[in-house]
Amino acid sequence: MEIRITPSVLNADLANLSAEIARVPSADGIHLDVMDNRFVPNLTFGLPVVESVRADTDRFLDIHLMIADVDRWAPGYAEAGAESVTFHIEASEKPVALARTLRAAGARASMALKPGTPIEPYEDLLPELDMVLLMTVEPGFGGQSFMDSVLPKIAQTRALIDKHGGQLWLQVDGGIAADTIERCVVAGADTFVAGSAVYRADDPDAMVRSLHDQAVA
Ligand code: DX5
Ligand code: ZN
Repeated sequence: MEIRITPSVLNADLANLSAEIARVPSADGIHLDVMDNRFVPNLTFGLPVVESVRADTDRFLDIHLMIADVDRWAPGYAEAGAESVTFHIEASEKPVALARTLRAAGARASMALKPGTPIEPYEDLLPELDMVLLMTVEPGFGGQSFMDSVLPKIAQTRALIDKHGGQLWLQVDGGIAADTIERCVVAGADTFVAGSAVYRADDPDAMVRSLHDQAVA
């Protein structure tokens, strides 16, 4: 299974985003957390910042939208040239139409689930998607503790993805670090967001490589 490490810049120095992204050349993508203080109780940045990042780098941009009215706002991120756009299923009224719009705009379409949201009701959506993101903390903040209670859902989602041909990536986000990545790999995840573990490390790129090595071991 191909393993991908996609660091989140949420806890990086956002006044120096360009330099912070350049600190992790070994990463497979850059995870950008968009929060609107409605879907989650925190506020970060939106489309203008993502457009500026797009103009600044050729890196794979993995946009995680934690916003309300996502059917309205998500397509703009695909049109801006992001390689992957993730919407929360809890915030989407028309997920099939949204996924198709994202793909038509050239992005990978991805669906995120909060820790308490089950995957079974959404099995029929999998053919419309390129990735499922399972939150392993409540969305909103970096630096929280990994929730072991999500592990069975990771395994269940892996089984559903395999049943549908195994093409989708399975991303986990929240509390991913040296001491938690292995159990996610065992459960079936292949794509890993790590925020504080990477950006609070003395050498962020060495941490990216170390997480990757741990995951493939
Ligand atoms: C949380 C965000 C995460 C966050 C992860 O709502 O979606 O991407 O940055 O941070 P860590 O890795 O510190 O849990
Ligand atoms: Zn995220």
